[in-house]
Amino acid sequence: MKINHKVIVFLLLLISSAIHAQTKLNQQGEALIDNLISQMTVNEKLGQLAQMRWSWGDSPQAAATQKLYKERVKQGTLGSFLGVHGVALTCELQRIAVEESRLKIPLLFAQDVIHGWRTIFPVPLAEAASWNPDLVGQSARVAAVEATSAGIHWTFAPMVDISRDPRWGRITEGSGEDPFLGSAMATARVKGFQGDDISAGNTLLACAKHFCAYGAAEGGRDYNIADMSLQTLFGIYLPPFKAAVDAGVETFMGAFNEVNGVPMHANDFLINKVLHQQWGFSGLLISDFTAVMELQRHGIAATPEDAGVLALNAGVDIDMESDIYAGELASAVTDNRVSEKVLNNAVARVLRLKYKLGLFDDPYRYHNLEREKENILTNEHRQVARNVARESIVLLKNDNHLLPLSKTIKNITVVGALAADNDAPLGAWRGQGRKEDVITVLQGIKEALPGARIGYEAAYDLPEFKNQDDIKDRIQKSVPETDVFILVLGETARMTGEASNRSSIELPGEQNKLAQILKRTGKPLVILLMNGRPLALSQIAHEMPVIVECWFLGVEMGHAVADVLFGDFNPSGKLPATFPRVTGQIPIYYNHKNTGRPPVEDDFFRSKYLDVPWTPQFPFGYGLGYSSFDISAPVPEKQVIHSGDKIVVSVHVKNTGKYDGQEVVQLYLRDEVRSITPPVKQLVAFNKIFLKSGESRSIQFVIQPDNLKFYDSNLNYKSEPGWFTIYSGADSENLKSSRFQLVN
Ligand code: NOJ
Repeated sequence: MKINHKVIVFLLLLISSAIHAQTKLNQQGEALIDNLISQMTVNEKLGQLAQMRWSWGDSPQAAATQKLYKERVKQGTLGSFLGVHGVALTCELQRIAVEESRLKIPLLFAQDVIHGWRTIFPVPLAEAASWNPDLVGQSARVAAVEATSAGIHWTFAPMVDISRDPRWGRITEGSGEDPFLGSAMATARVKGFQGDDISAGNTLLACAKHFCAYGAAEGGRDYNIADMSLQTLFGIYLPPFKAAVDAGVETFMGAFNEVNGVPMHANDFLINKVLHQQWGFSGLLISDFTAVMELQRHGIAATPEDAGVLALNAGVDIDMESDIYAGELASAVTDNRVSEKVLNNAVARVLRLKYKLGLFDDPYRYHNLEREKENILTNEHRQVARNVARESIVLLKNDNHLLPLSKTIKNITVVGALAADNDAPLGAWRGQGRKEDVITVLQGIKEALPGARIGYEAAYDLPEFKNQDDIKDRIQKSVPETDVFILVLGETARMTGEASNRSSIELPGEQNKLAQILKRTGKPLVILLMNGRPLALSQIAHEMPVIVECWFLGVEMGHAVADVLFGDFNPSGKLPATFPRVTGQIPIYYNHKNTGRPPVEDDFFRSKYLDVPWTPQFPFGYGLGYSSFDISAPVPEKQVIHSGDKIVVSVHVKNTGKYDGQEVVQLYLRDEVRSITPPVKQLVAFNKIFLKSGESRSIQFVIQPDNLKFYDSNLNYKSEPGWFTIYSGADSENLKSSRFQLVN
């Protein structure tokens, strides 16, 4: 069905838009900004909208660029930098801006601080597996404290893109496939980065990116187009962005992709109408790197100037690195292709950020040499990193309760080069993280068992994961002196991140073969996985008894893994995205539609495959612990509710195992019949609770009126009367249910 955008805009505007933290400043601030704008030339205004990447190094070319940019700062034609850090340099550039430029407007320094600055935390996908927003917020807080100590004002994080395609390398930077979990993580990270007071001096401006649907890149190929119904866009891909707005995020970044034929950097509907008008976001949206220039390649702009006009009018306030606004748009302003109003609006958004950070009062407040030295990689920061890391670990299989291993074990052989690799744990986007700061898995195991013999075999060569020629013999030789083998498999860090997509997400190289070799020794075997995306693990999942998903856990990786292996920490992570059996099942996600022919075993003409089951290897929300929990069916407080009512649902949980531990109690909802086909279930609440062995507790969830709503064919956001099934359980498949009815 073709939907008229004007109708949609009208409908959307009917929904009240909240007033958010990004709105205007106090009178004094607005007056200062108005006054500045009234004095600025068009070139100075466009300069505030330019962001360029700093050129590091001392090559003649870098030196020339540095000179040019300093000159532009002096001329007032460059308002912010990407990639400048360190107190010495940021201070020097700031000095030029506030002492040598005509209007003395301070600079902004931006950087990708994604999962830590120097103290590197688990990659964001791993952190999401903790299902612990408080901890994830602490991780962002530490990152902000460290990065601001290095002179940085603004991070290009959190990435809140939903992705249903693990081939996409950037799935590692987000929170997985679910809008509810993604929204919880978005909120936690925004609050962690920005703190309670953005002028505190140790808080970073956060940036919700990439707006929007970037995670829906066709075929999992980064930068590719996104084509989807508006119901899916609004219902699945947009909620974490809306959550970021509600959490007070100060900035947004546009996505490289087009959405339904309109590139996001020219998307007036989604930026101006939805983000600003409907959601009430009055902060700033920055382009992605050279994305304004790329509008020409998308085929919707004939010249760089046209590209700039389209972008600025669509609500892209800062042009990162294309340098089209500053270089090409002055005449477009003169001939009114970009109105003075649009231009001034964008400039005001930039100046407001500078004001909010307190830079007009004290432009040097982020540049303190003492702080730079003291605040980096402290013991406290490492401790937070270890806490987050161990909560991010997901126990996938633990046959015969082999784990936790006893600390009295005398002989362990660790196999796999990733175990001793201090690069992979840093993952993609590692800020100032250093390899020498990393506790490797091997080191963590050695520290945990100082009295034991810990052997090590690299077994394969990185990055190809090619098995070493004599590996069979060497493994065989180590058998008599080994009580347990710990085999580390996975990916290198470079296999995820920007542009690092894989057409096959099976374990690369000869790793499945290596697992077989170890299995055949007959010795107890623990497989640890280190990777940045969901993997297709059918081969090992079938035959190997113990598998632990450890992801890339940052500088404290080895300690965190050892905490789990030897029982100092009871694993409690849950998958934030579905793990398929084979790559060919993608897209596979838990909140799919039922279809008219849902798969069943004994009927051929159903929606399934000939060569592989239709079910995932490990479902969304799945993860074991050392204990076991009994989770009751959900009990709604009423059987019938009215539209607009909340409903409280109780679930009784008992720790029936031997160990104290945490469980993530999950609540899903299914709208049984409605006018747009419903997903088979949708996560609407979760609660991570700690129970001692034998302890039980009743927990209450509140289902909000919004949880019952969806976008109908005219994009009305509404609920319809009828029956709902509620499910409770420890993952998205192992569930108990009850029902309630919504009447008007
Ligand atoms: C391109 C990436 O898409 C974006 O996420 C990042 O913030 C910018 N480069 C700046 O590094």
